[in-house]
Amino acid sequence: MNDKVEKRMEELVNILNKASKEYYVLDNPSITDQEYDDYYSELLRLEESYPSLKREDSPTLRVGGEAISKFEKVAHKTPMLSFDDIFNEDEIIAFDERIKKTIKNPTYTVEPKMDGLSGSLIYEKGILVRVATRGDGVVGENITANGKTIKSIPLRLTRDIDIEVRGEIYMSKSSFEKANIERELNGEPLFANPRNAAAGSVRQLDSKIAAKRNLDFMAYFIPNPKDYGIKTQAESLVFLKELGFVTNYKFNTVAHTASEIIEDIEKLANIRKELPYEIDGVVLKVNNLDDEEKLGYTARVPRWGIAYKFPAEEVLTTLKEIKFTVGRTGKITPNAIFSPVHVAGSLISKATLHNEDYCISKDIRIGDIISIRKAGDVIPEVVRVITERRNGTEKKFKMIEKCPICNTKIVRKETESDYYCPNKSCPARKIENIIHYASRDAMNIDGMGEVVIEDLYNEGFINNITDIYNINNYKEELINLEGYGTKKIENLTKAIENSKENSLEKLLFGLGIRNVGAKTAKILARHYKTIDNLINADIEELTSINDIGSIIAKSIKEYFASDENMNIINKLKSIGVNMTYINNSSYEEKDEFKGKTFVLTGTLVNITRDKASEIIENLGGRVSSSVSKKTSCVIVGDNPGSKYDKARELNIPIWQEEEFLDKIEN
Ligand code: IVH
Repeated sequence: MNDKVEKRMEELVNILNKASKEYYVLDNPSITDQEYDDYYSELLRLEESYPSLKREDSPTLRVGGEAISKFEKVAHKTPMLSFDDIFNEDEIIAFDERIKKTIKNPTYTVEPKMDGLSGSLIYEKGILVRVATRGDGVVGENITANGKTIKSIPLRLTRDIDIEVRGEIYMSKSSFEKANIERELNGEPLFANPRNAAAGSVRQLDSKIAAKRNLDFMAYFIPNPKDYGIKTQAESLVFLKELGFVTNYKFNTVAHTASEIIEDIEKLANIRKELPYEIDGVVLKVNNLDDEEKLGYTARVPRWGIAYKFPAEEVLTTLKEIKFTVGRTGKITPNAIFSPVHVAGSLISKATLHNEDYCISKDIRIGDIISIRKAGDVIPEVVRVITERRNGTEKKFKMIEKCPICNTKIVRKETESDYYCPNKSCPARKIENIIHYASRDAMNIDGMGEVVIEDLYNEGFINNITDIYNINNYKEELINLEGYGTKKIENLTKAIENSKENSLEKLLFGLGIRNVGAKTAKILARHYKTIDNLINADIEELTSINDIGSIIAKSIKEYFASDENMNIINKLKSIGVNMTYINNSSYEEKDEFKGKTFVLTGTLVNITRDKASEIIENLGGRVSSSVSKKTSCVIVGDNPGSKYDKARELNIPIWQEEEFLDKIEN
């Protein structure tokens, strides 16, 4: 009986894996979804009844298993390196020239640069036994359980060989959209892009969650290809496809000259938008493996390849208006208001134009066609004005002379490039002050956003931050305001009441002291413990604190020297707003962090920089922005910059993100 069952199970596994390969790898399904589901249910039933007969390559393994508490570290057999980046045609030509110094008539593979994270797969006798992340290139994390949920990773190869295969774990554009819709419905923060989504998903300790994220794998590299009789990278790609992997066979090409490379890149750039996944450039590899060997490696990267990165996406639109806004310090900012456009995944219609000098240097005119991009893929910016598209009707930029809100003549200090509204009672300034006070990083009063504050100000209920605590007295009137029901007002008054218990740093930041950002406020609160200690500190004492320079110290002294400001503080005190530091972190100081200076570089995937900095500080360390001999350790995320190189040069210990996370968790 068992023999019969075993045979049927093998049959079912083979049918299902073949169907899966046809669907995911070959894009050519031969059975219907219904048939697949029927075979799958039959296999599942048999596996439940005969667990000891479950096969290592069973597709039922793809749904994920028991959650684990931590990823095990695994050493790579050969280091998992990445290439240096280049950004323009000149650098492509220089790369080709450099190669030609060692190799006669080189050819190159030109491969789309998948935008995900690299993964290493190990097969023994054709069975998938390990999936690992790159980590620091030498040691990665064992993510096998998550890897098995990725349908384009074969659980069994077409040949029973031992082999390591490398490629990109990524999330398709459609899975990314789906994941974000679900996150929005669940009130979870959205993934910024498919790469972050993929990176976050492979680090899920619960593989059932990873399974739901619908990741994919694109194979592009065999670390020791000669073991399989392979002579070129192009052959490696064919071999990978034969083994059952998804490769980019439709788009990988072989080029013979720099101009052919550039042509191929242009072709890819043109179809980039239509691809079902994100690519962020093109990877060039010397095709002949003997040539690769001759070229070898620098201390850091292979000499035989390079990654060309596409320029940040730019989109054209029409400048409709330049709108001036007034910040809480009175600073006047010109803003470009343009016809809404989609840039790097979001719809935008506004970008800062910084100040008068900036507008003049760009000669930006209303009606101009302008090009927009997202700087660092986050903040929208106007890159350039397309002057060739002018028709003569455009209106030249002219700086305003009066505050757009209170009509007071605006002023520009000689040493600064910004104009200010000098009127301290300017409604715009007052409203911005209150908005800042209630904002998340400051007093974090839920329900008290921009619109509510403007309403309350315009209705005369609040005029400054201390009035926030009086709105309880106007409850009845507020409930009758359009759009404000009992529930909303109740929640608001509750949030206001709760804010009285905040730790000192939130208040210090919320007061809007010039040059005191959230980070400085935290340093001050931790150091002085109470606001009175801070008020009594002199410049010398303030500047003796790490990270507090003379400009910040002067701003602090100036702020507390003002009677008006002291009145506000005393009033807040009498209202019952807490003015002491509350250390509510669950972290205790640790020797590995205590008294040490850390620098963060690159994109951290599983934690925000702010959070990482906060934790380091809670553990007794400090965070600095530049690497020097005094730096104790550099924490490295994806695509690290020059700080990483400098740390290596100075022999400063380097922690990868995963290592850092482990250290803070254990
Ligand atoms: S080959 C020695 N091929 O881009 C480098 N990498 O620096 C072996 N990537 O970190 C990698 N698409 O994560 C290679 N077709 C491709 C790639 C690719 C994306 C990633 C990879 C690597 C970086 C290149």
